[in-house]
Parts: sequence; structure tokens; C-alpha cells
Amino acid sequence: METLLVLFLRLSWIAATLPIIIASIPIPKLNFLRKILLVFAKRGKTMHPSSFSSSSQKFTVPQRFFLHFYVVASIWTMFLLVATWVYAYRMVPLVMEPLSFPTLTSFLIGGLTIRTGSADLRHGYVAWQGVYLLLLMEAHVLRRLFETIYVCNYSPSARMHIVGYFTGLFFYIAAPLSLCGDCALKVFDCLANLVTEFIVRGKNQMPLPEIDFWLVLNPLTRLGWKHWIGAAVFSWGWIHQYRCHKILGSLRDSRHADEYVIPHGDWFEIVSSPHYLAEIVIYASFVVATGGSNLTIWLLFVFVVANLAFAAVETHNWYRRKFEDYPSRRYAIIPFIL
Ligand SMILES: NC(=O)c1ccc[n+]([C@@H]2O[C@H](COP(=O)([O-])OP(=O)(O)OC[C@H]3O[C@@H](n4cnc5c(N)ncnc54)[C@H](OP(=O)(O)O)[C@@H]3O)[C@@H](O)[C@H]2O)c1
Repeated sequence: METLLVLFLRLSWIAATLPIIIASIPIPKLNFLRKILLVFAKRGKTMHPSSFSSSSQKFTVPQRFFLHFYVVASIWTMFLLVATWVYAYRMVPLVMEPLSFPTLTSFLIGGLTIRTGSADLRHGYVAWQGVYLLLLMEAHVLRRLFETIYVCNYSPSARMHIVGYFTGLFFYIAAPLSLCGDCALKVFDCLANLVTEFIVRGKNQMPLPEIDFWLVLNPLTRLGWKHWIGAAVFSWGWIHQYRCHKILGSLRDSRHADEYVIPHGDWFEIVSSPHYLAEIVIYASFVVATGGSNLTIWLLFVFVVANLAFAAVETHNWYRRKFEDYPSRRYAIIPFIL
């Protein structure tokens, strides 16, 4: 069953990425696909009211509905985080003893993974790694929730296509699930058992859980060096995305204005969509934290890169068309490459 969920997630990321990659190949025959994708992918400034007909407006929603993505993402990620944490805590104390004496070699080559071939230990590792990645994801989506409410100034006329809207909702369900996909069904099983026990025994008959906070937190600190490097890369992207959103949010004098200006500062000096670049750095940190060994997380990352690069090129062309004095040294999204 676990493998079916993982297979579904992988196929979803491949199905979402392939059309973008194919549409990006500069062959005239593929122009039709590119045009279709652009209809779905455009939003905000690249989908200004003057650029679409009233009939196509029927299939759009306000861009400020981005808020829905982060409400869904915060609640869903928090749910997965708590459930995975409870599961990891319940199973890892059973196998804690052999893990108590880390050797320098085991630390250097990646932490708990190599301790033993035991399936229990490997599963404990996967569960604690899931907790770690979901903690990072929660830190990301909570900040995005805050920014969407207090930092970004979505203009009243900014809209996005309904397909883009549902893709966004799907993304924020599937992305956190991909981070804990290898143990998600066991986590749900554990949760279902707890709920059943609660229903059968009743509230007063449930044994009070004894929580050892050392065992709740300690396994997270012993996962391995790649997780710390992942956290450092994550923080780098996290901080820059916040700075770039602050810059974007400060560009307009009034909260209800809808004019666009050339942004300056931070990574805006090198690329047109630094907030997209920072998002890519954030998802790259998940690949780093898993040592590049998790195919589902690789596919999630490739989708994020393809999706944002596609939108960034459109944004870059829009800036260059709109502003004659647009800085010519800026790239679209990846410095010196794109
Ligand atoms: N993980 C993913 O696959 C994924 C996909 C999509 C987005 N995201 C993330 O979500 C975040 C927001 O994305 P987005 O596409 O909504 O970004 P965006 O189109 O650049 O808009 C962000 C905010 O900045 C405003 N803005 C943008 N350029 C401006 C300018 N030149 N002058 C004045 N205001 C300007 C927009 O106003 P308007 O409302 O008027 O446009 C909007 O309020 C990004 O950090 C992105 O990485 C992630």
C-alpha cells in the first residue's frame, strides 16, 4: 500500500512536469501547447484584465485566493507533522538502545541510516526524517500564510486561472505528503488505531501518555549532517524569500492600488523573480536533507523548478515589454543561466 501512495505521488509530479518541459522546447510545432499552458499559468501582472476577454475571465479567481493555498497547507502539514511525530515517538523508543552510541563514522556518512540493516531501525529513521522535513515545510507555509495576509498587496484586479487555482490546492496537499510519503500510510494506521482505542475504551479508560521530551526531540538532532546542511540551505531560501516579498509588498503606496513598478534590492538585482528563485532554494533543501536519495522528493523539486521557471520567463518578458529602462543585466530566475 505504501508503495502505491508513493507511486501515485511520483506519477502526479511527472504528469504535472512533462507538459511544462515539452512546452518549453523552442519548436514552432509545440506553440499550441505553450499557449494552452500560458492560459493556465498566467496570474497577476502577466494576466492583466486588458489582456483577456470577458468570457475567459469567467474561469478566473482573484489572485488573493493564494491565501487558500497556505491555509490548507498550514493545517494539512501540521496534521501530518503531529501524526508522524506521534508515530515516530511511539516506535523509536523501542529501538532506541542500539542508537545511543553514535560513532564518528556513522555521523559522517549520514547519521542513523547506516546503523544496522534492521527494518525497524530503517523505518524509525524514515519516520524521524519525515518529522524533520515536515517541520521545515511548516516553517515555510506558515511564513507564506503570514505574508499573504500582512505583507503582499494583491491588487483587486489581479486574477489567476481556475486551473492554476486547483493545481495550487493539489500542490499543497501532495507536497507535504511527498515529504513523508515513505511512512505516511503507517502513520495513518497508527492514528486510526489510537482513535479506535479511544472510541472503544472511552476517554476515562485511556492510559495517560508518558511523554519523555528528551526522546521527543533527541532523535531529530541525530539524523545526520546532510539534514543540517539541508536546514542551512532552507534558511537561506526562507530569509531571501521573505525579504523579496517585503520588497514586493512595499512597492505600492496604497493597499488597493494596482500599478506595477520595477523592484530593486536583495536578489532583485540579479533576477526578475527572486521570490521564485528562493522557493526553488527551499525545495532544493529537501533534496539536500535527504541526501538526494528520495525519488519522490526529487520529482517534487523538478516540478517546482519547471513550474516557476516557466512563470518567471513570462514575468521577465512582461517586465522587458512594459519598462524601457528595465535593467538589462537581470536574468529571469537562475543567475547566468536563465
Ligand atoms: N511552489 C510552487 O510551485 C509555487 C507556485 C506559485 C507560486 N509560488 C510562490 O508564491 C509566491 C507568490 O507567487 P506569485 O506568483 O503570486 O508572485 P507575484 O505574481 O510576483 O505576486 C506577488 C505579489 O507581489 C505583487 N507584485 C508583483 N510584482 C510587482 C510589481 N512589479 N509591482 C508591484 N507589485 C508587484 C503582486 O501584485 P498583484 O496582485 O497585483 O499581481 C502580488 O501582490 C512566490 O514566492 C512563489 O515562489 C510557489
